[in-house]
Amino acid sequence: MADKDGLKVAKDYHVGTPFANQGDFQVKGANGLSWGMKRRLSNIFDPKTGKTVMFAFDHGYFMGSTAGLERLDLIIPTLMPYVDVLMCTRGALRTCVPAANKCGVALRVSSGSSMLNDDLSHEVVAVDIEDAIRLDADCMAVQTFIGADGQLESIDNLSQVINAGMTYGIPTLGVVAVGKDMERTDRYFKLATRIVAEMGVQIVKTYNCEHFDEIVAACPVPIVVAGGKKLPEAEALTLAYDVIQNGAAGVDMGRNIFQSTHPAEMAQAVRKVVHEGYTDKEAFEYFQDMIH
Ligand code: R5P
Repeated sequence: MADKDGLKVAKDYHVGTPFANQGDFQVKGANGLSWGMKRRLSNIFDPKTGKTVMFAFDHGYFMGSTAGLERLDLIIPTLMPYVDVLMCTRGALRTCVPAANKCGVALRVSSGSSMLNDDLSHEVVAVDIEDAIRLDADCMAVQTFIGADGQLESIDNLSQVINAGMTYGIPTLGVVAVGKDMERTDRYFKLATRIVAEMGVQIVKTYNCEHFDEIVAACPVPIVVAGGKKLPEAEALTLAYDVIQNGAAGVDMGRNIFQSTHPAEMAQAVRKVVHEGYTDKEAFEYFQDMIH
């Protein structure tokens, strides 16, 4: 392990220079993967645009019932036509999501804490690979707590899932967690996203921050950006626009869709930004036209 003292600060990210090992596949860093991995990644990242609108409603895994998600059986089918991927727990998927749908599935496989705990960083792998296969998951999502008390456990969880995923051709989505021990700075996100990518995940989920284009450039797999707390619709569309402009391969939004006054219309507006090149202002006008 390199000496931690006297390290030079990384600075030359070649932002704007395309990824050099893209080959002819639409997903960054996936050129050398197996057919099955590429097939599943194509269920996540649209082959035409290379991007994705993921819809996160896995909040119940530690929050229980959340505003907007009180009745998964009612809201999820109304959003499925407008999103590419459903990110959820196996409990939600089996009970509330009709199997006859075209969405990809990002299956949350780590868990272990709840809103009643101060420290959320201690998790286990709660879903085994056989159940991910039975559910036809397109990727498995693992929360990763870099710099937190539970870092070692989460790296262990991530490694177990990546190893199983490599055996059966199922990608792993490493979710960079934020929490009381972690700063929301570009310095932190550069560290965490790169560690998670080098562990071997095929997709990284993280948050927007300053110099986001450098984080994307330094990460050899696609980054999808978390929505975070509920914002006014115009601001959430600006978030989506900014990260796409800075190289994100998509968004993974939850509350900014399901807590909107008009969730289905919001999902369609986000889709316009991610897949159709709308600006945030154009997408907000589109949203307003739909709801009036
Ligand atoms: C992220 O760590 C988990 O997947 C969350 O449950 C989910 O991503 C939260 O989505 P949002 O912050 O957009 O509501």
